[in-house]
Amino acid sequence: MRKLCVIGSGYVGLVTGACFADLGNSVTLVDIDEGKIETLQQGKMPIYEPGLSEMAQRNTVAGRMHFTTSYLEGLDQAEFVFICVGTPSGVDGEADLQYVRSAAETIAEAMTHPLVIINKSTVPVGTGDWTAEIIQRKQPKPMDFAVVSCPEFLREGSAIADFMNPDRTVLGSTNPEAADRVAELYAPLDAPIVITDIRTAEMIKYASNAFLATRISFINEISIICERLGADVTEVARGMGFDYRIGPHFLQAGLGFGGSCFPKDVKALANMAQTHGMHPQLLNAVMEINAFQRRQIAMKAREMLDGTVNGKTIAVLGLAFKENTDDIRESPSLTVVRSLLNQGALVKAYDPVAMENASREVRGLTLCSDAYAAAQDAEALLVLTPWNEFKHLDMSRIRDSMKRQILIDGRNLYDPDELRQMGFAYRGVGRGYDGAGLMANGDQ
Ligand code: UDX
Repeated sequence: MRKLCVIGSGYVGLVTGACFADLGNSVTLVDIDEGKIETLQQGKMPIYEPGLSEMAQRNTVAGRMHFTTSYLEGLDQAEFVFICVGTPSGVDGEADLQYVRSAAETIAEAMTHPLVIINKSTVPVGTGDWTAEIIQRKQPKPMDFAVVSCPEFLREGSAIADFMNPDRTVLGSTNPEAADRVAELYAPLDAPIVITDIRTAEMIKYASNAFLATRISFINEISIICERLGADVTEVARGMGFDYRIGPHFLQAGLGFGGSCFPKDVKALANMAQTHGMHPQLLNAVMEINAFQRRQIAMKAREMLDGTVNGKTIAVLGLAFKENTDDIRESPSLTVVRSLLNQGALVKAYDPVAMENASREVRGLTLCSDAYAAAQDAEALLVLTPWNEFKHLDMSRIRDSMKRQILIDGRNLYDPDELRQMGFAYRGVGRGYDGAGLMANGDQ
């Protein structure tokens, strides 16, 4: 049994730890947050991720998963140590590396034998070399180590499946032997392994996320044009997706991208370009379009409610940044909710799992027990996160309980004709609105 240490018990750390334990390795998860470690030791998960809790429990009971706040304990006899700490955005959008720095320093001080140090956090190009320098400088006495960059591509909500069935594994290192040893760890996953240098591996992560974000902003820009010209963007995307050079994924128009990765990574990549004297026009446009998508939903609500939302009751379905997660970081839905509240609306909201997190972030939100309770007496219903359960609501019941039958489908979940026939005033995103003429100059 190989011994692995994972530093950081956020999404990436917990999923990496649980999955490697499930593959038969012995994994010790280290976090400086005592509360989190206590929660984990009690068999509870600090985050919601389908399947994770069961997997962690199974492996803890089998003695393959351990939790501690001590680096010494975590590194004891470990062959590999994974850095999975957060890299939040700094003031100018640059990645803030304070947690990577402190993890590297503490590893250097605590290591008592040679180690392969694998960085999974998304870090600016050049961080792998910088990490190696820190470790070398901080070691009390020189000891062999190698740094390998192995960017994580997992998505929240399907993180375990993504880990177990990756499209590829990317490994960057100056030390080919270390990269080969990490490749062996990933061998049971049976996916292509790209071995390259550290900087290229780091760039692959940014370029992949920026490309996916660009696809989303692209289809969102098309959606605005569709809306003006009377076309339906969902059909446009379907028609485009059959072209194998394009493919069907990441072409859903809506509120734009949110979450802990895309907004931060696009900003960080643009910042890297800027600090090296470049002007990242496309990346800037991707971010601008993304911000506009959120604004236009609040604008549609205002327009449909006769020019003002002030004093009106609006129901919101979905608060998480996407379905199957309780994560509200950079949630497009919360941007819309805040805008409505600021304009004097009463917002009644429901989300299957993100309500607790949202109520901590947004004041003045009225939380409801289900979608029907949220819709009761509302003058407009906004669907902002594409949870499956919202696709199968009893829409006649919703219609009958609302004060006015206005429905804004921010994720294009419903059939516009069907809902219009039921008596709803329906607006989706990029779905041939016949009134046209909206949104020339952005939100006021
Ligand atoms: C993303 C990447 O997919 C993953 O590889 C990376 O390493 C971490 O960031 P995640 O943030 O969990 O994962 O979510 P993802 O499913 O990729 O969605 C990101 C955002 O884009 C969500 O807000 C989602 O609603 C939005 N999205 C996605 C769209 O608006 N349209 C689409 O077609 C797809």
